[in-house]
Amino acid sequence: MTVIVRDFRPGDAAAVVRVRRATIPYSVTTEESLHFTVRSANPAAKYRMLVAEDGGEVIGMSHVGLAYDSAEPGQSRVNPHVHPDHTGRGVGSAILRAAEEHLAAEGATTAFGWVNDEPASLAFAARRGYSPLRTARFQRLDLAGATLPGPLRLPTGCAVASAADFTDDPRALFEADAEATADEPGDVNTNLDDYEDWLNNVWHHPCLDRRLSTLVVADGRIAAFALVHTDGATTYLSAMTGTLREHRGRGLAKAAKADSLRRARAAGYTDAFTNNDAHNEPMLAVNRWFGYQVSASEVRHVRELT
Ligand SMILES: CC(C)(COP(=O)(O)OP(=O)(O)OC[C@H]1O[C@@H](n2cnc3c(N)ncnc32)[C@H](O)[C@@H]1OP(=O)(O)O)[C@@H](O)C(=O)NCCC(=O)NCCS
Repeated sequence: MTVIVRDFRPGDAAAVVRVRRATIPYSVTTEESLHFTVRSANPAAKYRMLVAEDGGEVIGMSHVGLAYDSAEPGQSRVNPHVHPDHTGRGVGSAILRAAEEHLAAEGATTAFGWVNDEPASLAFAARRGYSPLRTARFQRLDLAGATLPGPLRLPTGCAVASAADFTDDPRALFEADAEATADEPGDVNTNLDDYEDWLNNVWHHPCLDRRLSTLVVADGRIAAFALVHTDGATTYLSAMTGTLREHRGRGLAKAAKADSLRRARAAGYTDAFTNNDAHNEPMLAVNRWFGYQVSASEVRHVRELT
């Protein structure tokens, strides 16, 4: 076996989708989203999509980049995925080595990675000097068969809209996302303070379904939102749900998500996924209420690169 680790080329997209769907089936990856990620990466991320190729076949991949959107300098991200038919043969190690070299050369001092919460992946990370941090829970809702709540009664002054209604000027949604994202528990805190970067990475993301992304508007201002990615076929993924601080605990996240899920089912989506920090009690409570069930977990790991 001669594994080559190299940068992604457009012709790799179908194989990379196969790898990711096999290793993280509870996510949404499309060929278009891969091209988009490579094309639109912020130069400050020094982003590379590495792929591992063996005999002309792409069998592994990783997103690799600096966490330029974190307040703390030197943080970086790497997430190797190897197709289950090709594990145990050094492919993950080869990807990780190349990724760490690149990150260290670009000034990273710390690498963070998500590791599937199962013995082989956890042992792989431990042997390579990675220490466990927080856990996140993937949850699935059988959207085709679920009993969804009817339209929820909204507090006076609140109304439902969709992200598509904000197409002409999505800045208010950026501001809402920035406030909610700042409060999301996690190991690498994300500061959304660059509107152009948000437009590039969030608003123009090809998997963002603006019609299925519901906003709750209170007296003309966004109070809560549920942003949604879809694969355009069967799978719906909650990309971010948030409620502005002054409106929390009023049922608005539930209302936004209920509206979005109802419309997604009407549009033919059958599987809904979401991913939450294991200590994000309010969000886990909202998802339990809809009937989401934990389908897998992953553990954030960290390693000092110096
Ligand atoms: C998570 C978040 C979206 C919830 O928004 P919200 O509008 O307050 O949610 P709702 O009012 O619709 O529902 C909250 C539920 O959580 C429950 N809850 C709140 N705090 C809780 C806690 N510490 N433990 C357990 N349940 C809790 C509430 O009781 C409520 O459930 P109930 O209606 O059955 O009583 C909001 O806190 C937020 O924006 N957080 C920051 C961003 C974030 O983490 N988003 C999720 C990213 S994955």
